Amino acid sequence: MTGSTASSKNKDVTVFDSIESMSASFYELLINDFTRALLKRKPYHLAISGGSTPYKIFDLLTRYPSKRINWEFLNLYWVDERCVPPDDTESNYGNTWKSILRYIDLPEQNIHRIHGEDMPESERKRYSEILAEKLPQVNGLPQFDMVLLGIGEDGHTASIFPGTNIMSDSSDLCVIASHPETQQKRISLSLDLINNSKNVLFLVTGNSKAKILDKIINEKKGFESLPAANVNPKQGKLKWFLDKEAAKKLKKRFLFF
Ligand code: 6PG
Repeated sequence: MTGSTASSKNKDVTVFDSIESMSASFYELLINDFTRALLKRKPYHLAISGGSTPYKIFDLLTRYPSKRINWEFLNLYWVDERCVPPDDTESNYGNTWKSILRYIDLPEQNIHRIHGEDMPESERKRYSEILAEKLPQVNGLPQFDMVLLGIGEDGHTASIFPGTNIMSDSSDLCVIASHPETQQKRISLSLDLINNSKNVLFLVTGNSKAKILDKIINEKKGFESLPAANVNPKQGKLKWFLDKEAAKKLKKRFLFF
């Protein structure tokens, strides 16, 4: 791993000097974890977020040898989806297809997209049933092997926005959210489901995220109410992969190579 890792208030934070080095370390982390599941001949369940950061990373991952991966064991899900058709420029599935899926041999039956084109409530229910059926049950909830998250400048993650009651709706596996500015409907994994994962990895880049990261990582006033600050896997691991711009307000100990 080519970043500088340190813990701040027991948070596992790694700062990278470039998105290329972040991508390389993410690839290494994913392959190592995936290989452990493969050795046990177990399917691997990965949920990914939308947003610009993952697409930049996925685009870089297309440079890595995908032949090494036994794709039949990798199952892909989405952390959230905008309630738009898959060919809409806003679609997380559509953008993931363009950035990486069209270049790799992931079997269609392993791609579990959220049907943004369908009625939100019926799709929320359908996707919840898919997760309950496909994923192993741990602590009474489906468990992902890895969940990739981003963070908004307002502290949202997935499509869980500050000030909304869906942070407490723990009974549902998936929730329906509305973007606070555009009111765009979205379907999102619930916080409780995210917190039941084996591994949660935040991928955060850019100056615009420095302030919110300072608030959350250094646990500054009011951080507790932010959705991203409430991602604390019950038994799983939580890691933060940051670039140096996003980490610039963190303690000086987070040097980067
Ligand atoms: C989405 C994501 C959202 C995203 C953050 C960060 O569907 O948009 O799930 O939560 O992760 O908004 O987005 P960036 O990676 O573009 O900063």
